[in-house]
Amino acid sequence: MEGFAGKVCVVTGAGSGIGRALAIELGRSGAKVAISDVDTEGLAETEAELKAIGAPVKTDRLDVTEREAFELYAGQVKEHFGKVNQVYNNAGIAYSGDVEVTAYKDMERVMDVDFWGVVNGTKAFLPHLIESGDGHVVNVSSLFGIFSVPGQAAYNAAKFAVRGFTEALRQEMLTKYPHVAVTTVHPGGIKTAIARNATAAEGLDAQQLANEFDRKLARTSPERAAQIILEAVRKKKARVLVGADAKVLDVLVRLTGSGYQRIVAKAMAKAVPGAH
Ligand SMILES: NC(=O)c1ccc[n+]([C@@H]2O[C@H](COP(=O)([O-])OP(=O)(O)OC[C@H]3O[C@@H](n4cnc5c(N)ncnc54)[C@H](O)[C@@H]3O)[C@@H](O)[C@H]2O)c1
Repeated sequence: MEGFAGKVCVVTGAGSGIGRALAIELGRSGAKVAISDVDTEGLAETEAELKAIGAPVKTDRLDVTEREAFELYAGQVKEHFGKVNQVYNNAGIAYSGDVEVTAYKDMERVMDVDFWGVVNGTKAFLPHLIESGDGHVVNVSSLFGIFSVPGQAAYNAAKFAVRGFTEALRQEMLTKYPHVAVTTVHPGGIKTAIARNATAAEGLDAQQLANEFDRKLARTSPERAAQIILEAVRKKKARVLVGADAKVLDVLVRLTGSGYQRIVAKAMAKAVPGAH
């Protein structure tokens, strides 16, 4: 893809799924890539693919919830490549469970990774992006950052928070540092390991939920998702909806306002029978 040659791009959660596909597509497009994950095995596979392409790559184990480590890491990437142009705050986890039965610690874990991980990555890299002269913050929210569904309150909260945070940041950059672009990403169902890696409240069958997700809801490949995201980044779009499901449901929310909640509750009960 045009527009990425020579750029230094940071991708979190690059050991699997969308993060891996983003890193590889960036590498193919001539970018220098800093990849990280807590899953060092998955990360090594991504690194091997990038090396096979011939892309310059820096590989590190990084837990996005560890703020101090993230700050240190940002400095190391800058030192290694001499600049940083783009950060893709992509790492994330999923969790299923109604509010009534979800333990606080499980909600906090989702917020720690899916929201605070994004905040940590944004703040750690922002000074470098401003300094680079053409920075870009790309924060991965979800279709679930646009509309809520039963059993996903914690994930919905984190992904709505990412959207609010990123949309405010974009406005700050527009007025103070217009050379720094900001994009919020809202993927629909993407065929990745997210549901298989997910946890669930007691009494729910996480395996069955994952199977239902893989069979019925995951429609777009991670490679296609990466292409759609990078095309939006290239055009400096404020928001990108990934997949037909994301586009349709975004329209549903716009048309019905809060009315979507009754429709979605019924549809979800049918689509994921194990959930309720
Ligand atoms: N797959 C989907 O349908 C979908 C839909 C909407 C949004 N998303 C979002 O896309 C992003 C990528 O997810 P994916 O679908 O590729 O899932 P995935 O499980 O395939 O990949 C996520 C990666 O994040 C890593 N990770 C988890 N916790 C981490 C931590 N604390 N620090 C660093 N890395 C960590 C995992 O090890 C994994 O390699 C996530 O933010 C997810 O919420 C996915």
